[in-house]
Amino acid sequence: MISNKVQEAINNQINAEFWSAYLYLSMAQFFHANGRQGLANWFDIQFKEEQAHAQILINYLNSRGGRVLLKAIDSVPTEWKSELDAFEAVLAHEEKVTAMINNLYSIAESEHDYATRGRLDWFVSEQVEEEETARTIIDRLKLIGDNGLAMYTLDTELGARTYTEPSPLATNE
Ligand code: FEO
Repeated sequence: MISNKVQEAINNQINAEFWSAYLYLSMAQFFHANGRQGLANWFDIQFKEEQAHAQILINYLNSRGGRVLLKAIDSVPTEWKSELDAFEAVLAHEEKVTAMINNLYSIAESEHDYATRGRLDWFVSEQVEEEETARTIIDRLKLIGDNGLAMYTLDTELGARTYTEPSPLATNE
């Protein structure tokens, strides 16, 4: 049994994860259209990861006998000024998601829902990784500036990224 308060907060988080997926899918289209196929690949994978985050929460809520309620997904931006502008938007967004996860964690604690708190531990660590990755790419982009060859190298590197199922889905943990 899960409290209405925790259930509602998880449903809100599911919606936020789908919005993140939609944002990154939009960024992928932006880069596909602007000749940065490697960056587009990176965002295509990010899109899949965010859907996986939503699925982890969906599976969890179902496992607790809760009710998953899917809400409308708000529209997302479609244009960015540069590669750096896009990744700065990624970092700002991930910092916001971190705050949301922390808030959800506090709600679970205030409701004495330790199972939910335990499930959220994975998300807490994942957010550290998400922010670090965005920061690392931002640092690279600042170094690159308008050096075309360096941008080509980064685009090639990001083009090599492949999708790995997040562990809670891969191992059904
Ligand atoms: Fe689902 Fe990028 O956090």
